[in-house]
Amino acid sequence: MGTQAIGSAKEVFDLLRDDLSAIEDELTREAVSSAGSVTDIAGHLREGGGKRIRPSLLLLSARALGYRGPGMVRLGAVVEMVHMATLVHDDIIDGADIRRGRPSANTHWGNSKCVLAGDWLYMQAFRAALEERNFKILDLLIGLTQQMVEGELLQMERLGRIVREPEYYDLIYRKTACLFHVSMRLGAALAGASEEFEEQMGEYGRNLGIAFQIVDDVLDLTASEELLGKPVGSDLREGKATLAVVHALEHGAPRDREAIGRVLEDFNFDRTSHPEVLEILERSGSVDYALSAACQYAHLARTAISALPDSDYKRALLWMPDYVVSRDR
Ligand code: IPE
Ligand code: IPE
Ligand code: MG
Ligand code: MG
Repeated sequence: MGTQAIGSAKEVFDLLRDDLSAIEDELTREAVSSAGSVTDIAGHLREGGGKRIRPSLLLLSARALGYRGPGMVRLGAVVEMVHMATLVHDDIIDGADIRRGRPSANTHWGNSKCVLAGDWLYMQAFRAALEERNFKILDLLIGLTQQMVEGELLQMERLGRIVREPEYYDLIYRKTACLFHVSMRLGAALAGASEEFEEQMGEYGRNLGIAFQIVDDVLDLTASEELLGKPVGSDLREGKATLAVVHALEHGAPRDREAIGRVLEDFNFDRTSHPEVLEILERSGSVDYALSAACQYAHLARTAISALPDSDYKRALLWMPDYVVSRDR
């Protein structure tokens, strides 16, 4: 790859191919419980694929800082297991019936078993992390889990309500960006990097995670279920006002604001249809507004790591924000 810039997902995947495949093996080994349904639920999620973006970030962070040991494969599996646990719980909370292009675990095994499987996955992730014998790593993971749970709870308390931008950003930091932040910091902690580099990596992760969730929220409004592999229009149906909607509710014409307000109030599209909402969001410039906010956070992510020594791994990290804001699933 030499000094050329990294320009495609394939190049990044090639760079991480061996590490990612070791993480898949680790996930297969780790996600085995004496309770058969836990093994089945974890297997179902693992086989569903997913972008593996969090373990990729951890690998890139560790490698960009010169780490070469076995810990990054273990912790890569740890962050993916934490992510899988939150997905199982999130689909129960959101009543979602599709995930990673297949029926979600809750539709197959029911809510009760899935709650327990999610709990088990969290604990298995902690058990694996403990092998590093490093309190800092546990500290990061415990803080993270609490933030994510608090994020979901805050979101629940705001369902059906109009939220303002600061609340929206606080919420998406907790529920999504914190895991990106911690994945990057874990990589730096493994590499024994200076506090300064660890903070820069963390800052990159935080900004990238915010961009990632803004785009996830836009895709929920604009994409198709076939492409996304999960339900669309679901945020509004669940009463969640995401950035484009927050923008339209603050800046749209009164009639448009009322039309969108009805969906949030009703938790369905009976009085204002999904295409009508989309038309309003497009006309108010709200989709563009949200996407340009995502681009700004992507830019902040890139600038956070400008002091990092040059390497293919750094180039992959510089490419990632472009991928996150231009992705379609
Ligand atoms: C989904 O994350 C949950 C969010 C934080 C939006 P991803 O979009 O990374 O899901 P997978 O792992 O690729 O399925
Ligand atoms: C992501 O929020 C929160 C998680 C931590 C799973 P969403 O509810 O938007 O995630 P998706 O869209 O279901 O993946
Ligand atoms: Mg959800
Ligand atoms: Mg979503």
